[in-house]
Amino acid sequence: MMTDAPPRAWAEELDARDPLADVRDQFLISDPHLIYLDGNSLGRLPAATPEFLGAVVRDQWGGGLVRSWQEWIDWGHRLGDRLAEHVLGALPGEVTLADSTSVNLYKLAAAALDARAERGTIVLDAHDFPTNRYVVQGLADARKRSVLALHSDHDTGLDLDLLRSALDQDVALVVLSLVSYRSGALLDMAAVNQLARQAGALVLWDLSHAAGAIPISLAETGADLAVGCTYKYLNGGPGSPAFLYVRRDLHATLRQPIWGWFGQQDQFEMGQDYDPVERIDRFLVGTPPLLSLAAVDPALTVIEQAGLDRLRHKGTALGDLVIELARQWLVPLGFRLASPARAEQRGSHVSLAHPEAWRICQALARHADVVCDFRVPDRLRIGPCPAYTRFTDVWDALDRLRKLVAREEYRRLPAERARIT
Ligand SMILES: Cc1ncc(COP(=O)(O)O)c(C=O)c1O
Repeated sequence: MMTDAPPRAWAEELDARDPLADVRDQFLISDPHLIYLDGNSLGRLPAATPEFLGAVVRDQWGGGLVRSWQEWIDWGHRLGDRLAEHVLGALPGEVTLADSTSVNLYKLAAAALDARAERGTIVLDAHDFPTNRYVVQGLADARKRSVLALHSDHDTGLDLDLLRSALDQDVALVVLSLVSYRSGALLDMAAVNQLARQAGALVLWDLSHAAGAIPISLAETGADLAVGCTYKYLNGGPGSPAFLYVRRDLHATLRQPIWGWFGQQDQFEMGQDYDPVERIDRFLVGTPPLLSLAAVDPALTVIEQAGLDRLRHKGTALGDLVIELARQWLVPLGFRLASPARAEQRGSHVSLAHPEAWRICQALARHADVVCDFRVPDRLRIGPCPAYTRFTDVWDALDRLRKLVAREEYRRLPAERARIT
């Protein structure tokens, strides 16, 4: 820890030495004064995307019309293979893009439960992202299973000893997020996979806050199942289709509950009965939202070129700078670090707790041109995306934040929360 806050010149120096500095130019940044620290919610727009999408709309939809399906039909797989290679550490044919993260979670969790029919328990984190908890609760209800909700620490995440003691021969499935949406706490994927394997349970990972920010090794750690968003650190655009991963040797046995024609053997034979293919396609349902899918393509190119190791390296340095500045400037103003302090235990975002976090978050956006977000009960989430956030952005954002809080500017804003936080 430093004794004084690092000066702005220090951040400038880090920017000057940043091997990823040019990657920022590959994003469309229309307002240079705005500091965007919410890439963990919705990534910025890649500069190539509008033209790319324009061409898909004009030439492929407008010109090719229905004939373009020859090209479109495997787009999800092509992107899935690229994600597998560059982002998820999976093998070709193990990843595809379809539906939303919530829907994919439902499909894979249901398939896993059916494959462990003799077991009665699903383990999850009581503080995991709501959709994960709701989907699991709904499935448990419908399939007469019970949910064992482990209480992770709001700031430091799930204690592996707690998980270890919960895993017995009755556990069918474990559902966990690799990076906690609230605190950014990072789990040890290899250790969790191993614990579950020893107990004979399957693990379904939510990689939404990890994909594109930290290197992931699904194959190497023997992961069973995973899902995740492409609109956060992967910059695929609002509502872009999610990815799903199923380890190759599980393809033959797992069967998902929504029997759509995109999972069917010889799809255009229009067969009478559902007979799913023995590939990753069996986890598809229906026609993909093609334009949203297309937008993932140029976004992924940026990530591939930047490289996950370099993104992770920069991401941890950005997070460390947030924490160092927060210690020096914000803790004396009533903030508390609500994320793991050590970089290797954190994803790319950092949470700071303050009783007035909601009003501060609003004031930051309205009066200081800094966009981050608020999460209940009292967290300001600061998500510097390594692909386009500069060290000086972090320094300037926290400087604006401390001045705004010191002047208590946020007190003028309403305490009622908006619909979206
Ligand atoms: C960790 C996590 N899981 C799942 C979801 C749900 O994704 P979707 O709304 O696209 O289904 C989100 C959305 O932000 C998320 O942050």
